[in-house]
Amino acid sequence: MEDNGKKGMVVFTKYSPYSAVDTKIENYKGEEYETPRVVSLCRCGHSKNKPFCDGTHGSVEFDNERKEEKKHGPKAYKGSKITVFYDRYLCKHIGKCTHGFPEVFNVNNTPWIAPEQAQDVEKLIEVIKKCPSGALSYSLEDGKRETEYSDVQKIKIEKNGSINISGGVKLIDDNNSEDILDSKEHYSLCRCGASKHKPFCDGSHHDIEFDGQK
Ligand code: FES
Repeated sequence: MEDNGKKGMVVFTKYSPYSAVDTKIENYKGEEYETPRVVSLCRCGHSKNKPFCDGTHGSVEFDNERKEEKKHGPKAYKGSKITVFYDRYLCKHIGKCTHGFPEVFNVNNTPWIAPEQAQDVEKLIEVIKKCPSGALSYSLEDGKRETEYSDVQKIKIEKNGSINISGGVKLIDDNNSEDILDSKEHYSLCRCGASKHKPFCDGSHHDIEFDGQK
């Protein structure tokens, strides 16, 4: 995203928690936490004060390595009025798309995305915009791909899942993670510690039955 004059950022190293700077943070109910300008968020999954870091990462065996690298960009699924793009690497498999528009997004079909099935293109765009991970984007007949949907900088903590960022909060780390993103405006960070695509959520929190309240 172009410089919008906003200051929010998330900064970290491979061995540290996330430092959230100048960004509003809210829980899954939409209630805002009272936080200082800079606050540490847990990403090992072991803090007793989630979503905040309590230093436990230093005493547990947190595997901070990215296990799988991204090999290619998003794949295009063309329709006559709209083309849908899907970046599998960034997907966190929470099913906002398959539940939101099952006629278009159906994993039992090949291809699994069929934009031609959308009678209502506006509804399809709304469903695409609800995906928090940045895995979905679209283009209309002018061919310009739309990847940025919100101007409001915010960090939202999912109940037993990821940290969802929106509004163009800058991501700064020692592993060029921002380069992996398809949309620099919104993305989902892992906070359970189990993702193979760190720092991004890949849905592994389901497999480990991550409890974000503990
Ligand atoms: S929060 Fe860790 S994989 Fe989703």
